[in-house]
Amino acid sequence: MTTRRLITSALPYANGSIHLGHLVEYIQTDVYVRFRRACGEEVTYVCAADSHGTPIEVNAAKAGVTPKAFVEKYRAEQHADFKRFGVEFSTYYTTDSPENAKWAYRIYDALKARGLIYKRAAEQLYCERDGRFLPDRFVKGTCPVCKTPDQYGDGCEKCSATYDPRELVAPRCAICGTAPVVRTSDHAYVDLKKVEPIVRAWVEAEGHLVPSVQEQVKGWLDDLQDWCITRDAPYFGFPVKDPEFPGKFLYVWVDAPIGYLSSGERYFADEAPAGQRLTPAEYEARYLAPGAPSRLEHFIGKDILRFHAVFWPAMLWAAGLKQPDRMPVHGHLTVNGEKMSKSRGTFVTGRTYLETGLDPELLRYFYAASLSPGIYDLDLSLEEFRHRVNADLQKRIANLAARLHSPVAKVGGEGLPPGPPSPHFDRAQVAAALAAARAAFGALEYRAAMKAVNDLADHANKAVQDAKPWETPDAPATRALLHDLGKGLHAIAVMLAPVMPRFAAGLAEAMGGLPLAWPEGFTPYDGAPFRFTAKPPAIMPVDAKQVEKLIVEPPAAAAPAAPAAKVARAASPNEGAAKASAKAPAPPPVFGVIQYEDFARVELRVGAVQAAVAVPKADKLLQLTVDVGEPAPRTIVAGIAQAYPDPAALVGKRIVVVANLAPRPLRGITSQGMLLAAGEPPALQVVTVGDAIAPGTRVK
Ligand code: MSP
Ligand code: ZN
Repeated sequence: MTTRRLITSALPYANGSIHLGHLVEYIQTDVYVRFRRACGEEVTYVCAADSHGTPIEVNAAKAGVTPKAFVEKYRAEQHADFKRFGVEFSTYYTTDSPENAKWAYRIYDALKARGLIYKRAAEQLYCERDGRFLPDRFVKGTCPVCKTPDQYGDGCEKCSATYDPRELVAPRCAICGTAPVVRTSDHAYVDLKKVEPIVRAWVEAEGHLVPSVQEQVKGWLDDLQDWCITRDAPYFGFPVKDPEFPGKFLYVWVDAPIGYLSSGERYFADEAPAGQRLTPAEYEARYLAPGAPSRLEHFIGKDILRFHAVFWPAMLWAAGLKQPDRMPVHGHLTVNGEKMSKSRGTFVTGRTYLETGLDPELLRYFYAASLSPGIYDLDLSLEEFRHRVNADLQKRIANLAARLHSPVAKVGGEGLPPGPPSPHFDRAQVAAALAAARAAFGALEYRAAMKAVNDLADHANKAVQDAKPWETPDAPATRALLHDLGKGLHAIAVMLAPVMPRFAAGLAEAMGGLPLAWPEGFTPYDGAPFRFTAKPPAIMPVDAKQVEKLIVEPPAAAAPAAPAAKVARAASPNEGAAKASAKAPAPPPVFGVIQYEDFARVELRVGAVQAAVAVPKADKLLQLTVDVGEPAPRTIVAGIAQAYPDPAALVGKRIVVVANLAPRPLRGITSQGMLLAAGEPPALQVVTVGDAIAPGTRVK
């Protein structure tokens, strides 16, 4: 029976544009969805705009529109942006929907019926001018621990302390700047201790979370706080219908994950292709009931883990629904090694990326080549991005296709039939790469999947180099080899398709419309001749200027909001002093200590040694030919001859090269860089890295 999956990504707030950080998650999920579909599974990929909550309500009011109109604008924009990055949801609905209201009330009622909801009075900061209670992020003030001004109500960005907003020194309302007062209000709380064993069993069961994430969640379970699930008006959300809590609204984080269920229901009821529609009852039986014959998998980021791994399984259980089968959690994107920041221009939106003219599939590839399961932050170093794309996609993969195209195209329409195996190309490597990539995609080890693709392309490129097909184009052995290489290219297209669907489709099309399906046991060696019916798609090298366009420095005038600063001065006598210290000049440099920027100017890269020979009449020098991931290898002259009496021993080694050193002549040879070595000759050793690290990779 075909496996069925309901797969979700987190629901983005309908409060802004999609940025490259979001895209880590949606690309990770989309790759998985495409992979499973290629394997023949029936996958529904559900997402929606998360439309409720205070920030949306406040921003809609600022924009002078209704919250409904406000969220619809962002919902539509986000949906279109995702599409441009090849992220194709089955549905992109909204949490502000009748289906979601129905599900939210059902789950609230279930919690109530199980005696899990109780009433408690809570003290909270209240702005008398705005007439509203202030969520933590709507209060700013001075950190009670380190005294840094202008911190949010829930924690300090400077010293990482977390606290209650009532503890802030000189708190003020982030909307209007006035000092809030403390007010009490009754709220509904979920008694989480009662469901702790249920949640713990889910967390500890194999396959739901990776072990490191399990440990983190278990830490929270050891110290469970009850969960407040209501908010006071004004609020954009579902009004609570329970007479015990008049005038309250459901907290956005209650109905947000419920949006997964309701958006799925909507898809099957109204949007699925005609033959695949399901009534709500059929949908529930197939996807949501305990023991349903399908898998429920939620992809999320590390910042929303607690909502998903503690509260959500409890809610599902209370409502008598199945719990998630798997919850992959990813880390956050940094840009050039730092948290994305609007003021540094590294808060890159999807739109900004598209405006640079860079192909969205290059970003998909870069993310895939960097992703593994578990909470690891992923760095978009612009240099690294350019290098990866150029070294892997342009130089290795697209180039292989181009090199095969000209001799194969000459043969014409009937193509090249299989022949005896070639000594230059090992067919078993195709099967090995397919098996490795298949396991890797399923395990979310995309990095390993992309390595399998690149290794196979390396093997094929080397076969071309060794066999020199252009010298004997008509020899049967050449024709048999080209056939095999073509089959290898087909396998590469299949493995790349989840990551770069458009490029892979172009490749498959050029090879006469080959299928990209990946059923169990797939092999491209089906005995059919191999041919090209069109030129394979090319990949243009990316240059530094183009990637630099990703960073858009905000205009200097976009300084901090004036009204807040004004009020703060009135509210806080410390403000003057704090301002002065913020503007104080940097301390004088310490002699011998360099700043990170100084180090970062040195461009260290991994290079693969292709050749090494002694320099005539120079007993200390060797001349190396090194592939640094660029179109042509570099010549590097190094004073290491005494340590390497047999220079050939260096061939194949992965060394570290200073790649941005000005070239200089040595004994009449221009050395295009320097290599790193430790020790003195003859006990000197060139610094090497393992061969899992591709030539061109930045060392930092
Ligand atoms: N609306 C909530 C999710 C509700 S799910 C029932 C939310 N929205 S969000 O727009 O802030 O984030 C959506 C997803 O994008 C989250 O999983 C979050 O982790 C992810 N990312 C947002 N910024 C990110 C990075 N800088 N890096 C990687 N992922 C990031 O949270
Ligand atoms: Zn206010």
